[in-house]
Amino acid sequence: MSLSDSAAEALAALDELEKAGVSAFAEAANSAAIEAARVEFLGMKQGRLKTAQERLKSLDAAAKRVYGQRFNAVKTALEAALEGAKSRGSQIASAVSDGFDVTLPGHLPKLGHRHPLTQTADELIDIFGRFGFAVARGPEVEDIHHNFDALNIPPAHPARDPLDNFYLSDGLMLRSQTSTVQIRVMENQPPPVRVIAIGRVYRPDTVDATHSFMFHQIEGLMVDKGVTMADLKTVLRLFAASYLGKDVKIRFRPSFFPFTEPSVEVDMLWHGGDRWVEMGGAGMVDPNVFRAVGYDPDEVTGFAFGLGIERLCMRRHGIDDIRLLYQNESRFLSQF
Ligand code: DAH
Repeated sequence: MSLSDSAAEALAALDELEKAGVSAFAEAANSAAIEAARVEFLGMKQGRLKTAQERLKSLDAAAKRVYGQRFNAVKTALEAALEGAKSRGSQIASAVSDGFDVTLPGHLPKLGHRHPLTQTADELIDIFGRFGFAVARGPEVEDIHHNFDALNIPPAHPARDPLDNFYLSDGLMLRSQTSTVQIRVMENQPPPVRVIAIGRVYRPDTVDATHSFMFHQIEGLMVDKGVTMADLKTVLRLFAASYLGKDVKIRFRPSFFPFTEPSVEVDMLWHGGDRWVEMGGAGMVDPNVFRAVGYDPDEVTGFAFGLGIERLCMRRHGIDDIRLLYQNESRFLSQF
């Protein structure tokens, strides 16, 4: 049996009524709005449900049955929507009266992120990890043996000057270089060695745009049979290309460090840069250093290097003042 056009239209109007009523109750945000929706849809005198009920009279017997069933379902749905709105409303009301308004949007947490120096360190670990270098660690409070003696730095060497170091009591000091970790690694394992060490070092320098009494270094050490200066240059060049970009050039300048022979200063020049910038020192591990840790210098050779993390980070990001890296100014840090 098919329904008359007017019956079909009446049913469609019921669907429409249900949709409108349910969403009106769902959207009602306070008790006044809930009451307004109640009057509009469920009001006893002129509510829309009441009007829909009156339409029943105009339908024939068959349509009445279908319409009546549907009408009851819509009524139930609207009453449930009203109840839902009321209980939501009373929760809001009690929360608001407790001095806590759950309808307010709330404070979004500010998300933090890693400090640019930490990002640099992590990236260096990643790059050297791809070259097969493991990460080694050593203490920041170090003894004179590891900071100087074992590194072939003689007792009268100017690097030991009390004005250039933070000496502590009991033969201890704040390490002035991460080269200390080379010694600690070699004391604890036989060759071959392929490690980097990243960490803080301390020197009583006057603070300015390029100096700080504490900064970070990355130390590298590779020891094996037949390691050469060419290996050193290759590793540093690959590293510079990975971290600073393919167009970065590196240059070795003859230099002197007690723990390497020969020793070089490592300079880098990048695209658009107008001068070579010194990034650290490097060289072939001095036989005396091998002897200090019990390695046989006739059996193995090795290279070592030490670069400044701040310099690398500043170069990478175009930061022109080292102090910015230590001030924890969130407007600065949030840029990285
Ligand atoms: N330790 C040196 C410094 O702090 C840097 C350095 C130079 C490290 C040569 C090395 C090296 O491993 O071979 O100035």
